[in-house]
Amino acid sequence: MQPVLDYLQQHQPRFLRELCEYLRFPSVSAQPQHRADLGSCARWLLGHCRQIGLDAELHPTAGNPILVARTPPRAGRRPCYLVYGHYDVQPPEPFELWKSPPFEPRIEGDSLFARGACDNKGQHLAHLKAVEAFLQTGTELPCDLIFLIEGEEEVGSENLAPFLRAHRDELRCGAVVISDNGIPSLEHPALTYGLRGITALEVRVDGPARDLHSGLFGGTLDNPAMALCQLLAKLRDKHGRVAIPGFYDDVVPLTAYERKQLARLPHRDAEYRKFLGVPALFGERGFSSNERRMARPTVEINGLTSGYQGDGSKTIVPAWASAKLTFRLVPDQHPEKIQRLIVRHLKKLAPPTVSVTVTPGHSGPPYLVNPTSAAAQAALHALEGAFGRKPVLMREGGSIPIVAQFKQVLGADTLLLGLSLPDDNAHSPNEKFDLRCFAAGMKMSALLWKELAK
Ligand code: BES
Ligand code: ZN
Repeated sequence: MQPVLDYLQQHQPRFLRELCEYLRFPSVSAQPQHRADLGSCARWLLGHCRQIGLDAELHPTAGNPILVARTPPRAGRRPCYLVYGHYDVQPPEPFELWKSPPFEPRIEGDSLFARGACDNKGQHLAHLKAVEAFLQTGTELPCDLIFLIEGEEEVGSENLAPFLRAHRDELRCGAVVISDNGIPSLEHPALTYGLRGITALEVRVDGPARDLHSGLFGGTLDNPAMALCQLLAKLRDKHGRVAIPGFYDDVVPLTAYERKQLARLPHRDAEYRKFLGVPALFGERGFSSNERRMARPTVEINGLTSGYQGDGSKTIVPAWASAKLTFRLVPDQHPEKIQRLIVRHLKKLAPPTVSVTVTPGHSGPPYLVNPTSAAAQAALHALEGAFGRKPVLMREGGSIPIVAQFKQVLGADTLLLGLSLPDDNAHSPNEKFDLRCFAAGMKMSALLWKELAK
């Protein structure tokens, strides 16, 4: 094992250069103009996997290609594990808030700034570097590995689920390993045993056939922007509890044990509030901030558009208004069932003065796994070995829609071993990845395969 760890140490500067190369592709899956960049990024990854000694292929889909890379075939049977990641990234906008361009990686101290640095290129590259170390030092890997790296996670992984079903036999594995999430701090490595689910939709309100003079016509017809705001305002109460009938019916209450565990995570509301830059925290009564963001459902408006957005003022009644919404879900809420409740409720609330159209978007179920399994114990050991600290157990508020499919289609549990820090600015301007997390991640990955084989 020592040659592997030495290799990882010795080649850090090159690993960093490679990560920078990878980060230069503007692989923004939400934006059609980047379609070709996703292809180039996938081909770079393919080349890289082959270069480090993996058997790799790209599989075209209706969307972006899926990369599958495997450790070379060997005689004899060993356990097989699957590492999942995504090479697509969130849109970088607003550009003006970036201290340096999002696709021109910049290093400052221990931080590497670029869109995709932590979410998720840096995190899965750490796993690729660990396997490279085994392959290039001729160290026997105690297991076979499959890397499954897709290009549509940030838009809901809709082409990956059918791919899993079509390739379920080739993708069989004892467990899935994902580093696409966070830890509370470098002193608190974590095994994450739960994720929130998600369901997305758009609500559009149409009013007059065209924008109208608000002085000439205002007062005689409904204003679509106003109507939309009134509709959206009814989706939650003043504390943020979702006000849709039936929404909480399937929510499994937090156990006393879990609440105690979550309360042990390092967290102070006052500091957290400052970190967020808000005048006061907000959310459902009776739950701590960590409980609210990790284990309680929410509704969020992600985007709101209507009327005139340019300089100065323009006195109109806009012809239409629209909102992009997501609901975060927790066990045992079912995304399709929740979608139906939401659509039904919005239709019921819709005033007769405008027309309301609801377009359902992507969905992913919540996830919860047993943190005391043998695989989880192995992961805890690897985390401790790599970070030099006792790991904590936590849940996360973010979603990785495909995780539930790994269980359903492959029958595999997922170990979520995040490498990102709370101030990494995932989905925000100035996203970064901490190079200490990159190094610890490689080591953790190398140790993990040994621990899992024990
Ligand atoms: N890496 C995140 C998910 C994440 C972040 C999980 C932090 C746990 C902690 C992932 O790339 C992501 O952003 N997922 C989307 C999924 C959605 C677009 C379907 C999310 O959570 O918004
Ligand atoms: Zn993300």
